[in-house]
Amino acid sequence: MKWFQKKKMEAGKVDFQNLPRLIGIIMDGNGRWAQRRGLPRTAGHAQGAENFRSIVYYCRDIGLEYLTVYAFSTENWKRPQNEVSTIMSLLEKYLYEAIDTMERDHIRMVFFGDPAPLSPKLKKLMEETDEITDRFEGFQVNVCLNYGGRDEILRAAKKSAEAYAAGDENAITEEAFSNRMWSKGIPDPELIIRPGGEKRVSNFLLWQGAYAEYYFTDTLWPDFKPADLAEAIGWYQHRDRRFGGV
Ligand code: FPP
Repeated sequence: MKWFQKKKMEAGKVDFQNLPRLIGIIMDGNGRWAQRRGLPRTAGHAQGAENFRSIVYYCRDIGLEYLTVYAFSTENWKRPQNEVSTIMSLLEKYLYEAIDTMERDHIRMVFFGDPAPLSPKLKKLMEETDEITDRFEGFQVNVCLNYGGRDEILRAAKKSAEAYAAGDENAITEEAFSNRMWSKGIPDPELIIRPGGEKRVSNFLLWQGAYAEYYFTDTLWPDFKPADLAEAIGWYQHRDRRFGGV
């Protein structure tokens, strides 16, 4: 057996008793997936959303605590109008379905990002989802929607400055800062996966990802299946994490 085949086999072994608490995923490659099939980019987003659903169920089934996905960034508004509206309609469709099924299926859903510029319909669906999430415990999916890591850090910085100016001397500790993020109370990602071939972070979980292990793969998001996620987790479990120590 060649060394890389052996490595791949070893990486494929997952210890399900020792999963990372939170996995982040940048769902990239939808557009290229569609273009390679001669389909409009929007068809790739539809397939990507379908894949999101199957990965969510897989994560719940293996006993993961948290999954955070990048659905729409603060920069994605620059895309053509029809693409933005397709992504928004997909989000509406999936939230609409989630409202009916999440409690039964034990999937909590939380949103990271500024809802202000989203449609009233989407905002209402997000509020309803939040209410359902509050009713039970268990596996949680964080959906980053109109989310940007820099935007999140700036908002926390402003709130910290205000608290400091108002006399709170402990306003600018790491802990206080973390508690002013969308991810307040949620653990940091231990593994961040980016399918789609690009090796960049694209403004995703900049603060929280300080010590994350980053896994990049050429597989496009709509083709990224539970077996690929298992392989990524296996790879993560063989990493030597030192957090700045030796
Ligand atoms: C990146 O692929 C993907 C996005 C900007 C949108 C992700 C949205 C979804 C998967 C649909 C809705 C989500 C949920 C949670 C139901 P890209 O278009 O940049 O791909 P490319 O790099 O090949 O062009």
